[in-house]
Amino acid sequence: MLGRRVRRPCASPGLWYINGMLTRRSFIGASGMAGLAMATARCSNPQSDTTESLAELPPLDQPNGPLAQVAGDETYWGRVAARYRVTPEYTNMEAGYFGVMAAPVLAEFHRQIDRVNYQSSYYARRVWDDEFEAARDRVARFLGAAPEEIVLTRGATEALQRLIVQYNKLRPGDEVMYADLDYGAMQYAMNALADLKGVTVVRIDLPEPATADAVLRTYEEALDAHPKARLLLLTDLNNKTGLIIPVREITAAARARGVDTIVDAAHSFGQYELTIDDLGADFVGLNLHKWLGAPLGAGAMYIKQGRLPDIDRMLGDDGPLDRIESRMHTGTTNFATFLTVPTALDFHDSIGSAYKAARVRYLRDRWVSAVRGTPGVDILTPDDAGSVAAITSFRLHGRTGKEENQAIVQELFDRYQLFTVWRTGVAHGDCVRVTPALYNSSSDADRLAAALKEMAARG
Ligand SMILES: Cc1ncc(COP(=O)(O)O)c(C=O)c1O
Repeated sequence: MLGRRVRRPCASPGLWYINGMLTRRSFIGASGMAGLAMATARCSNPQSDTTESLAELPPLDQPNGPLAQVAGDETYWGRVAARYRVTPEYTNMEAGYFGVMAAPVLAEFHRQIDRVNYQSSYYARRVWDDEFEAARDRVARFLGAAPEEIVLTRGATEALQRLIVQYNKLRPGDEVMYADLDYGAMQYAMNALADLKGVTVVRIDLPEPATADAVLRTYEEALDAHPKARLLLLTDLNNKTGLIIPVREITAAARARGVDTIVDAAHSFGQYELTIDDLGADFVGLNLHKWLGAPLGAGAMYIKQGRLPDIDRMLGDDGPLDRIESRMHTGTTNFATFLTVPTALDFHDSIGSAYKAARVRYLRDRWVSAVRGTPGVDILTPDDAGSVAAITSFRLHGRTGKEENQAIVQELFDRYQLFTVWRTGVAHGDCVRVTPALYNSSSDADRLAAALKEMAARG
């Protein structure tokens, strides 16, 4: 009897297993068959570790010693990396999309899925509320917020879209403002305010190369030029270049001019060390499934005490006006995701925010310092502390278009097995984003630097 052809994707884009054999899907990469041969060799070598076996490794010892010294200690970080089960088929330097769960977190997620499924609606009706509240309290503690200021969401998008469209102080004729580096979905939500509230939408472009002073000046000048502005969207650490802007100072400048800010902190918590107070903002949306390694579908909305009256209840929610929960109405949710959040925070704390931030910054600095100054390579973030964390984008000089940057991403993958991502929406042109994580090593950063030097030399 003829068997059915079983098609399943290999982790390398474009490559598929058909009945156990590798084939390719739709494209031949920039470096043609050589790249394919290398990717093929890697795909045929699946890992034997299981999540459960990695989760049973002894708990990590707390690092100790000066941050700068620990950040480069490959032995310690090798032990941390061993807690992540990631494909060996390519080197992922695109950790910006979402955070891989460490094995103990993934094992707990599996356990919670099983538990909820086992107890079924009894769990949802009798147990969930208390456990959800406990998870929320744990998140609030982590952020440095009061529990009543936090509601858990399925991600930053959900939180920020609600904050933007439910902000109720806008009047027809007012202006709202955002910048080129803000996230697309939030820009669209700000654009929607034109129809919803009769306001005028102002978009500004942030300077490049950026410095904290130049960015602050740009916002101050824009606010002065638009005295009717009443609401400003700010992205603390943007997804396009990795720049961290001086949110606290910009928020203070806006407040002094009667302008409220909504802060997109989707990438901030867990990538660098901060508390919610450090942002100085009254309205924040953030993610737990990026840099805190919680399961997908976990984020939070923050509304500072005293500001609830300025955010409407969500359409369709008739909950108490004085409770933040009425500003976010998700319906039946993935209970197991939120139940796993405390374990994700425990794992994060077992390393420590400061050490984790120092490590990802070290990996970023390692490739950036090796290529900065290389003719033909532009680095889009400055090096000063406070302006950058793990994420940094580069541009091969003058290559500002979509196809050119997609080709760079493809060549990095095909020729060097380095996975990165093309980013668009930067006023000065498209670019390629690089995001190392705790499962990367110094040698990954070195390989990337060597690849970029070769590519720049080839022109
Ligand atoms: C700056 C920024 N804001 C918001 C989001 C939305 O996050 P999510 O899709 O997890 O809700 C992202 C996602 O990458 C982002 O980079």
